[in-house]
Amino acid sequence: MKLTIFAATGGIGRQLLEQAVAVGHDVTAVARNPQNLAPAPARAVAADLSSVDSAALEPAVAGADAVLSALGPRTKSDAGVAARGTKVITQAMQAAGVRRIIVVSAAPIGTVPSPARPHPPRHDPGDGFIIRYLADPIVKRALRAHYADLARMEDVLRASDLDWTIVRPPRLTDKPVTGRYRTAYGQNIRRGVFVSRADVAHYMLSVLDNPATFRQTVGLAS
Ligand SMILES: NC(=O)c1ccc[n+]([C@@H]2O[C@H](COP(=O)([O-])OP(=O)(O)OC[C@H]3O[C@@H](n4cnc5c(N)ncnc54)[C@H](OP(=O)(O)O)[C@@H]3O)[C@@H](O)[C@H]2O)c1
Repeated sequence: MKLTIFAATGGIGRQLLEQAVAVGHDVTAVARNPQNLAPAPARAVAADLSSVDSAALEPAVAGADAVLSALGPRTKSDAGVAARGTKVITQAMQAAGVRRIIVVSAAPIGTVPSPARPHPPRHDPGDGFIIRYLADPIVKRALRAHYADLARMEDVLRASDLDWTIVRPPRLTDKPVTGRYRTAYGQNIRRGVFVSRADVAHYMLSVLDNPATFRQTVGLAS
């Protein structure tokens, strides 16, 4: 398939690129530092998603069967990039007539308020006692700005008419790909505390043309 991968230099992005090229997809990779792309994709496009406009992204998505993104802030100066970047990606897709997009969010986001979801459920049905009452409050306090950005990114997708899938992994690791993980629509995975970046990428590539995942949030954990 023809794929456009955004943030292809990140932990998950590199895995997306490597696994997609290995199975023969025709990949356009978008990165703010394309010199860091490995392996070399068929096409590389340079774009800083905190400032680029959607017209400039249109050639990168035109003709794609699917768009994948694991965009997220590397540093505090990248704050807000997930929502802002995803907005311009979706605008470029709409202009180019591309419908399918799969993005990475995070397990706690189902319970994070956002402008379009000011009153989310207090607890995710997949989370057990320890996550609900001990881990989640600490992590949410530490990553407040990052999670607000991801929640607004999810708003952008839900407000679009695209065939989106939002993947919500828990803590990411750098373990190798296994292809063995659990998934659930609309909720987190009970006792699912970790998943590898490689397996997140594996899952994203496995649902490229799976309509059951369209307009779904998916909990994913090993
Ligand atoms: N860490 C966890 O345990 C965890 C758990 C659940 C969910 N998540 C979410 O999963 C996302 C992906 O994880 P990861 O480990 O792959 O993240 P990562 O390695 O930090 O990768 C972030 C990617 O976003 C790119 N990026 C940031 N700002 C950009 C900008 N202004 N323009 C263009 N590209 C930009 C980075 O590009 P550069 O390479 O140029 O910096 C990099 O490719 C995270 O951002 C987070 O939201 C993380």
